[in-house]
Amino acid sequence: MKKVKVGFVTVSDRASRGEYEDLGGPAMREWIGNALVSEWDGVSRIIEDEQSLIESNLIELADSEQCDLILTTGGTGPAKRDVTPEATEAVCDKILDGFAEQMRAVSLQYVPTAILSRQIAGTRGACLIINLPGKPSAIGECLEAVFPAVPYCIDLIE
Ligand code: MTE
Repeated sequence: MKKVKVGFVTVSDRASRGEYEDLGGPAMREWIGNALVSEWDGVSRIIEDEQSLIESNLIELADSEQCDLILTTGGTGPAKRDVTPEATEAVCDKILDGFAEQMRAVSLQYVPTAILSRQIAGTRGACLIINLPGKPSAIGECLEAVFPAVPYCIDLIE
């Protein structure tokens, strides 16, 4: 497989203001570093729960930075400020429902509150975007559930 570029986006009002240490970004990086066998490069962002800001960051990472994969963490729940899935849907050309179905199904084996995550996944051009919940432990739980399909998906959309 070619060198993969991965965007890591932490969506959190508190982490973006420095009131809370970003644990999600490093957790995603570590997980990907252990999972990817090919060479890879990463670019990270910590942003507020603002739909327009999330959209512009996803667009920039997909179109200008040419990320093959973008992982977001946070903002997938039912709270008023949780808008990561809306932003993701707005910038994607295609929604891959199977990713969300599988992540929620597997997550429900860990916590009953997994039903609260509205996480989605989709493609924008040659970039696969996957939403993950904000809890650091959820990152591995969800990625493990769908990662077997990720390199193949990236090959298909290139
Ligand atoms: N999924 C997994 N695998 N593990 C978890 O601990 N937490 C849930 C859910 N999905 C969780 C999970 C909880 S408590 C919430 S509120 C939702 O994700 C949304 O989280 P978010 O708003 O931080 O994205």
